This record gives sequence, structure tokens and C-alpha cells, in this order.
Amino acid sequence: MDRLYIFDTTLRDGEQVPGCQLNTIEKIQVAKALEGLGVDVIEAGFPISSPGDFNSVVEISKAVTWPTICALTRGVQKDIDVAAEALKYAKNKRIHTGIGTSDFHIKHKFNSTQDEILERAVAAVKHAKKYVEDVEFYCEDAGRTDNVYLARVVEAVIKAGATVVNIPDTTGYCLPWQYGEKIKFLMDNVKGVHNAILSTHCHNDLGMATANTIAGVQNGARQVEVTINGIGERAGNTSLEEIAMILKCHKSMNIETQINTQKIYGISRMVSGLMNMPVQANKAVVGRNAFAHSSGIHQDGVLKNRESYEIMDPTDVGIDKNSIVLTARSGRAALKHRLSVLGVNVEGDHLDTIYEAFLKLADKKKDINDDDVLLLAGKERTEKQRIQIDYLQVTSGVGVKSVASLGLLIAGEKFEAAAVGNGPVDAAIKALKQIIKRTMTLQEFTIQAISKGSDDVGKVHMQVEHDGIVYYGFGANTDIVAASVEAYINAINQFVK
Ligand code: KIV
Ligand code: ZN
Repeated sequence: MDRLYIFDTTLRDGEQVPGCQLNTIEKIQVAKALEGLGVDVIEAGFPISSPGDFNSVVEISKAVTWPTICALTRGVQKDIDVAAEALKYAKNKRIHTGIGTSDFHIKHKFNSTQDEILERAVAAVKHAKKYVEDVEFYCEDAGRTDNVYLARVVEAVIKAGATVVNIPDTTGYCLPWQYGEKIKFLMDNVKGVHNAILSTHCHNDLGMATANTIAGVQNGARQVEVTINGIGERAGNTSLEEIAMILKCHKSMNIETQINTQKIYGISRMVSGLMNMPVQANKAVVGRNAFAHSSGIHQDGVLKNRESYEIMDPTDVGIDKNSIVLTARSGRAALKHRLSVLGVNVEGDHLDTIYEAFLKLADKKKDINDDDVLLLAGKERTEKQRIQIDYLQVTSGVGVKSVASLGLLIAGEKFEAAAVGNGPVDAAIKALKQIIKRTMTLQEFTIQAISKGSDDVGKVHMQVEHDGIVYYGFGANTDIVAASVEAYINAINQFVK
């Protein structure tokens, strides 16, 4: 079996997605879960981009033991200096530097020439080598880069000391056979290619990220860059869980990883919960319907023999169909166990706080599911916000105008307002706007029930525009009007300091 290295970029390419930003504590939680999952490399951030990113790379470096911690840079000396500083506590460290190599990037982004870009690439690798042994180089937009020029760049950076060369399909443009041919061309034509590992980094703009990644592996790439749930810029990156399960289902490929697939479901829920990014119901491997058989013919077949319609055993990805159902009668131990299966380890006072919130929710809702539990574990984040709801009362119905009265606590001081609206959410938001007198526009508003049942928790995602910037807000409550106001306030809290 050939070993394939898993490079996870959930905390860098994934976290770049608007609305998915995590604080340092949350990033450490995800990094520890990635370590438990068995990834080889964690791309922890882009240190020069912000003090927050710098600090996260420092703290993840301290918290994680065996995976390599990687920091992204542009092919610029200052970026590389800052990345090296951020990585100083990492036990195993890598600098990931690079530059655009397609004609689009060379002409329009850099107003430069192929020769000059090649020189800058080599200089960046040599500079990074002064700090770390392990240097990865990315040829941005390699998907649209001419293969002959790409081979020149790859050869030069390997000669300069790059240990890994990343061939990103930055725009998600390639067809699987084209991407596979690209990797094969490099394997066949780059002198010294065996002194480094070629890496895939595929975006999903045309829904081909996973297929392209597999084509790359079939042609010699031995590192894949992936994210949990496939999150990432625009349509996302190749999803880790898909690659791990493809290799598990297709042993004939003779490729192995160190991923403990039974931890996939837990980390998928954790990342989705922390980033407020729902997983689509029919998402391969981790979607709610991935193992749900609804048609009579399928149900009958699965009952006779699971393998009639299932190529994967749900327990292989950590879906425990016999997991204990949590209800108002469940104790702390059951809650703690469920959270740990989902990758969240809590003890002492923190567990007590979550348990109290759990009992309150269980009073309103019969069965508590995994998403509910993860929401409760993350609730502390919203409770520490500057603006909070004190009370909310809404009357609405058919043939009457909706009326809302709202009390807010702003830095501990109480404010009240009442308003009439076209519906309960409209009335509540009008009351909110009487208290928070800023120019702001609601641009997007989605309500989602987590599972089934009229007692379910409703999740609300909002985009609120203020001063030309869009802020993302999230709320979750069994009362969807309250969830909507929570989401609006969550967005406002980001610009009212
Ligand atoms: O998609 C891309 O090209 C990237 C690079 C910065 C590696 O994310
Ligand atoms: Zn990318």
C-alpha cells in the first residue's frame, strides 16, 4: 500500500469563507479534533493576514502534538518572516509559500513575465528554507497554467529545496482527466520530482473537486489538500470525508491514510456547528440523508442485506444508529458521552452549564439530537455578547397586524421598544431598529429546522449590511421569531463595540 498524506485546510481555506470565522479557542478545538482524526498536516492560518490569524497559528502550534503545523504565505519575504515567527512553538512545522503561475495571474495580477515569476518562486523557497526544513510551494492557478511552464517552476522550486509542491486547481476549472494528465506530465517531465511530494488542492466550482483529487492521486500525487465538509472559498474544497471513504471502499487503489474514519461524523458536526455552516442533507458521507433509505424497494433490500444498497457501513464513519437518545431524563454522564463522541470534551463547571441549558431545552423538546447538543455547547459564545435580548413578546395571526415588544440589555443597561409589522419577524426587527439606530439592511435570511417535529430548534442565518460591509449572524431557538432576533443581534454585535 502507498501512503497518502492528508493535509487539512479547514482552518485556512475553509475559515476564509465569509461567516465561518472562528475564534482562537474554537480553532484549537477543531485542531485537536483533526489531530484525533489522524490528519498529517494542519494548515492553521495565514499569519500575516491579521493578528488574530497569527495568534491562532501560535496557539494551535502549542496545543497540537504530532501533526505538522503549516502556515500560509505569499511568495513575499515579510510574509515568510511572520509565518516563521508564528510557527515557533510547533513541534513539526511547515511554511506554505507560493505565487500565481497561470498567464492570467502573471499578466493581470503581477504585471510580470514567466521568467520573473520563476525567479520570485525560487527566492521565496530559499528564504523559507532559512527558517524550516519542510517548505511547501503552491503554483496558484496551476489548473490553468501551461504544463510546460508549470514543469519548469516545479523543477526549479524542488531544486531550491521545496519538500512538497502543491498544484492547485484554484478556480475549480479542470476536468478530472485534465487534472490527472497534469500530474502525470509533472511526474514524467520534472527532473528531481521524486525528491518532493506533489500535492492536490482542488476547488469545487464545477462539482469536480473530489474527482480531480482522485485523478491526481492515481497519477502520482501523494498529498491531498482537503477540508471537513468540503467547506472553502466559493463552492468549497475537496472534502476530507469523501477522499477517506473512497480509499476505504476502493482498496484496489492500494492507497492508505492514517484517518480514523469512525471520527468523521463527530468532527463534521463539530465544524458545521462552530462555523454555523449547515451540511446539505444529501452531502456524500456526512449528510443527514447519506444513509437514509426512503423508497420501499431500497428499504426492503437493506433489511434483507445491508450491502444491497449500502457501500459503506454507517458505523465506519462514526454514525451510531443505536446511540442513546437524550431526553429530559438523561443525566450528565450521557450528555458528556454524546459530546465526546461529537469531539467536544467538557468537564466540571462547563459541563454543568451545558447540562442546565440542556434540561431547559429538554423541557421544550422531546428528543435532543446531535445538532442541539452542539448548539448548547457553543451557546456561551452568544451569551457573552454586548447586546442581548432581555425579553421578546409577539402577537400575530391571520387578519391582524403583528405587534412585538422587545427589551434589550446593552452592556447591562435596559432599553425597550414596541412596533407593528407585516409579520412577527418584521415587527420584532422594527422594534430592534428603534433601539439600535444604525443604518443596516437585511440582505439574506434563512430559517432551517434541524430535524423533524414542531418542537424542533429553528436555526436562523442572516446577512446584515452596515456601512458597505456584510456581517453574518446566527441564532437558534425553539421559537423562530426569537431565533431571528438573536441572529440579527449576533450580526449587530460585530459592528457595535
Ligand atoms: O486555491 C488556492 O490556490 C489556494 C492556494 C493559496 C494554496 O488556496
Ligand atoms: Zn484554495
